[in-house]
Amino acid sequence: MTTTATTILRVYDDATPHAPLVETTDGERIASELRAIGVRFERWAAGAELPRGASQDAVIAAYRSSIDRLIDECGYQAVDVIRLERGNPNAAELRKKFLDEHRHSEDEVRFFVEGKGAFYLHAGDRVYQTVCVRGDLISVPAGTTHWFDMGPDPEFTAIRLFITPEGWVADFTGNPIAARFPKLDA
Ligand SMILES: [Fe+2]
Repeated sequence: MTTTATTILRVYDDATPHAPLVETTDGERIASELRAIGVRFERWAAGAELPRGASQDAVIAAYRSSIDRLIDECGYQAVDVIRLERGNPNAAELRKKFLDEHRHSEDEVRFFVEGKGAFYLHAGDRVYQTVCVRGDLISVPAGTTHWFDMGPDPEFTAIRLFITPEGWVADFTGNPIAARFPKLDA
């Protein structure tokens, strides 16, 4: 996975999904826009080269110091890794899982160490499409309505931190809003 990419934030009125009010790749601007809705966003170093087929343990070992820093700071109890390589036969099913608006009873914390994926945060009458790439840390607070698009042929590795894995079950809102918004690769 050698794709170089840039984080992008697009802020939309939730009624006008094709005309962003804000579009920026500036890391500080992205952090401050997201901070205003309670979402933590930071750009971290993610320099490890992971071989194809690297195990969860290998990914965790490569980023142990970053993970320990988050655990010390926020009290997370569990860590795992989601790693998808291109050509995954279950891609469509995996993508569909979080493509509708939902919320969780605990924070959704993701540290992207390869590839990319898009979070869509629905706060008030705004939708914040945040395309996260390698090095991006995002923490979506408990209760924030959102969805996630990994694209049709996903390629990303994200380290996930939890207080309790049970807290991360998706509670779907039933709002069909996600279908109206541009997808990750649109
Ligand atoms: Fe989620």
